[in-house]
Amino acid sequence: MDSALPTTQTKTSETGTTRRDTVTITDNRTGKSYELPITHDAIRAMDLRQIKVHPEDFGMMSYDPAFNNTASCISRITYIDGDKGILRYRGYSIEELAEKSTYLETAYLLLRGELPTAAQLKDWQYNVTHHTFIHESIKKFLDGFHYDAHPMGMVISTIAALSTFYNDAKDIFNEESRRKQTYRLVGKMPTIAAFAYRHTLGMPYVYPDNDLSYPGNFLNMLFRTSEARYRPNPTLERALDILFILHADHEQNCSTNTVRGVGSSHVDPYSATAAAIAALYGPLHGGANEEVVRMLHEIGSVQKVPEFIKRVKAGETKLMGFGHRVYKNYDPRARIIKRVAYEVFDLMGKNPLLEIALECERIALEDEYFVKRKLYPNVDFYTGLIYQSMGFPTTMFPVLFAIPRMSGWIAQWEELLLDPEQKIARPRQIYLGYDTRSYAPIEQRL
Ligand code: SDX
Repeated sequence: MDSALPTTQTKTSETGTTRRDTVTITDNRTGKSYELPITHDAIRAMDLRQIKVHPEDFGMMSYDPAFNNTASCISRITYIDGDKGILRYRGYSIEELAEKSTYLETAYLLLRGELPTAAQLKDWQYNVTHHTFIHESIKKFLDGFHYDAHPMGMVISTIAALSTFYNDAKDIFNEESRRKQTYRLVGKMPTIAAFAYRHTLGMPYVYPDNDLSYPGNFLNMLFRTSEARYRPNPTLERALDILFILHADHEQNCSTNTVRGVGSSHVDPYSATAAAIAALYGPLHGGANEEVVRMLHEIGSVQKVPEFIKRVKAGETKLMGFGHRVYKNYDPRARIIKRVAYEVFDLMGKNPLLEIALECERIALEDEYFVKRKLYPNVDFYTGLIYQSMGFPTTMFPVLFAIPRMSGWIAQWEELLLDPEQKIARPRQIYLGYDTRSYAPIEQRL
């Protein structure tokens, strides 16, 4: 992939004037000016290093805690326009994929860059389906967790442990090996998630049924009891498939930044994606869907929403499931999820927390505090209500986010590996600590 940014561009307008795509920076400490090329509306941070006061200086850096305005890579996987509420996977709108595609087909699109032909989809489905079983030894350490262990902790450690079963995974620049690990990771995530869930219930593990769809088999491994064959409810099966499509990738979010950062050390994909699952676990990221339901329970009734909103505006707490680093408009996924929610509630009965959620949204969309900060419902605001109505405990909600995001993480990880500009991630720092000090013997310390 030719990702190198071209150097200085010049463009000639209709009137014949030439425009140089550069920015000129004048360092007022020295009076010197520097012309830096602009490419894709960005400058290279390394071009700042020439700006010095003294020749022996290190040179200028950019300072951007939490990467509010720093592009870490060039990517061709997912495009988001936060102001317009646009989300596209490889150029296809999330609305169209949610309506017409399946999760496995969408995962193929993210990973290979194109929608599959019928033959390619058949081959992809066959390979993922025939990698859903896990090594029997894995049951031994799943059994070692406490009954009340959080499933995310179990999934993080089990995915990391898979690296000890597949030594070929270290051959990361071998495309065939990456394909094999991709089948295993996409295929085994639902199995490991379901086994973790069954462990918390003290129920026997249910093995994959390769005749079922990807979401259907997941429901089978979660909820089958004494019936000979599990038959997933088609409404819940499709609802889960749509939710998986919506969660499959989201450009350079916290967990994707993690899989790229850890992957840049050239570790195997099991270790890199286990780190991503750990990042997703956080309540500010994929763990928010769990926190939303806890928050709605804490609010307790529609009548108590104004009192809670007052606490949010006082900075005492957050309205979980609201706000987004990129979306300064309604998260397009939240809009689709809200529609899926009503379809699930029609079948399973309305979630009693829905009225409280709708009242939070109604107030927030009118209140100056939220409007000024452009805080809208994000992907996590309504998902928890759906999962709860489908019978999942809140601790499983972030796991339901991690399963589909696996394909996005792998696609981003591969893009990083194949990008000739990428190297091991190693940010700089601005050091404001002590200069130099001499070691003081303990008796001289105060
Ligand atoms: C996901 O990045 C992705 O793409 C992530 C994701 C994906 O698909 O991978 O979309 C999935 O993680 C969705 C986000 C789930 N998290 C939550 O719902 C947790 C609640 N939301 C916030 O913590 C927050 O909105 C973030 C973390 C999502 C975004 O944080 P930012 O961009 O760093 O924004 P910020 O914290 O600087 O907030 C700006 C202002 C602040 O107020 P002021 O200091 O200006 O007075 O808005 C306020 C914040 O206090 N604010 C909130 C708020 N979110 C931001 N106030 C109340 N409730 C909130 N939820």
